[in-house]
Amino acid sequence: MSWHRKHLLDIESLTVEEITTVLDTARAFKAVGQRAIKKVPALRGKTVVNLFVEPSTRTRTSFELSEQRLSADIINFNTEASSLKKGESLKDTARNLEALNIDFIVIRHSASGAPHFLARVLNASVINAGDGAHEHPTQALLDMFTIREKKGRIAGLNVTILGDILYSRVARSDIWALTKLGAKVTLCGPSTLVPRIFEQMGCRVTHDVDEAIRDADIINLLRIQHERQRKSMFPSLNEYSSLFGLTKARLARTKPDALIMHPGPINRGVEIDSEIADCGRSLVLQQVTNGLAVRMAVLFLVNGGKGPQEVAA
Ligand code: CP
Repeated sequence: MSWHRKHLLDIESLTVEEITTVLDTARAFKAVGQRAIKKVPALRGKTVVNLFVEPSTRTRTSFELSEQRLSADIINFNTEASSLKKGESLKDTARNLEALNIDFIVIRHSASGAPHFLARVLNASVINAGDGAHEHPTQALLDMFTIREKKGRIAGLNVTILGDILYSRVARSDIWALTKLGAKVTLCGPSTLVPRIFEQMGCRVTHDVDEAIRDADIINLLRIQHERQRKSMFPSLNEYSSLFGLTKARLARTKPDALIMHPGPINRGVEIDSEIADCGRSLVLQQVTNGLAVRMAVLFLVNGGKGPQEVAA
């Protein structure tokens, strides 16, 4: 079990062993988070910049708390009050931050490939917190952690991802992770948002929601990514909800032990009935809890940690 990467840019380039190392290291950090003293000195003396150029609630706060728990110094970059608003480029912004001797940049950006670009032009470690419709690797890692924790395995599970696949970075990262780890992945949603080209990623594509969820062990719901759609991809939210939303009637036709996931933010009454979001089969908030341990693990590993055996006792 080992990790040799300086950056975490995507799931596509990770090996199964690397993914497993993150998940096992996160399990050790979850145990640390259940102690009376939750803080460890792993990043003492290191500085992390959280460069979120797109809105975020879960990922930003989870990274910030992870960094605090690892004893790092933290700069939360305020995009709205920054010189990006005066036309400074991302590269110049990042290089000026690096001139302050920072060690890590956690970046969320609307442009696919922005983290990869920064990894080429900076000496700091770069962690992708979501780039355009490309990837959201820490979301996929926390999703894998949560599935493994709840089901005991990932290989052989039927996982259905239902919603706006085309514009979703979570979908792409989850598909890479799930297929590498041996799950059987079904994608479902309107044909405009779930084109058959995704079959080339090793998934089954269907536009029949009842068929998609009937044998699922995990149903992972995605919201409609209005901010990335350049035109309307379906007639109305009401129609989407009636054709593809997870309603109580639909849930009743799934396996009794099928679990519901959603990366958030949830649009209640659109992709998911409000009561389902809060029911005992929903893992939504447990995903958020696990995100903390997973992001601690990622920061620990890109800082040179080799695996769970090195998590501070
Ligand atoms: N899941 C997720 O990325 O949520 P935020 O956009 O709130 O970070």
